[in-house]
Amino acid sequence: MGTDKDTRTMNFNDINGNNSIIIRRCNLEDLEGVIEINEKELPEDYPYFFYKSILDNFNESFLIAVDIDGNVVGYIMWRVEKVPAIDSLKISNKGHLVSIAVVKGYRRLGIAKALLTKSMEEIKKKIIDEFVLEVRVSNYAAINLYKKYNFSSQSIKYKYYRDGENAYYMVCKAK
Ligand code: ACO
Ligand code: ZN
Repeated sequence: MGTDKDTRTMNFNDINGNNSIIIRRCNLEDLEGVIEINEKELPEDYPYFFYKSILDNFNESFLIAVDIDGNVVGYIMWRVEKVPAIDSLKISNKGHLVSIAVVKGYRRLGIAKALLTKSMEEIKKKIIDEFVLEVRVSNYAAINLYKKYNFSSQSIKYKYYRDGENAYYMVCKAK
């Protein structure tokens, strides 16, 4: 108790009664597990330095789910982007959901909901105007999840993915 790591650990005892899953911030040692999940569960892979830069710059909202044996079973990562607003001189702050995934054997337990809830609380502290993300138009499970968090599709990004699939650009106002 009392170490830096301990205070940064968040225990979730309410994931559908499954108290063996912990949601906490990602550390450097966890990156390997995160990358493994990404490569297994999503067709969009990133180089190591990309994960590292998210970890270095947006550590507060880079969260992982860990099972009782210490295995990483889910992750979520965001970045904050400053974008000039189209209709004014103001800069708009967007919380961009870069990636979320949960290992197959651990799905439908509420882990993604726990990761989203906790990380969005962290992103909100950065005074953002909206949360944004892209999702494959065929990704029913993820679209359903985002709708639960009041995301709605604002536009379609045509051929957004390398295999030619379109993306919904989904937005949720932060205030
Ligand atoms: N069918 C329909 N709705 C679903 C499904 C499904 N198979 N899975 C999740 N949902 C929706 C439901 O609304 C669900 O709420 P409910 O269980 O009360 O009905 C809600 O999502 C939350 O469910 P969780 O249990 O919290 O979600 P889970 O931990 O299973 O993770 C996720 C959901 C992350 C989409 C998972 O299926 C996954 O890892 N998929 C592969 C990776 C992926 O597609 N990631 C998103 C890419 S887009 C991006 O990263 C920006
Ligand atoms: Zn994106």
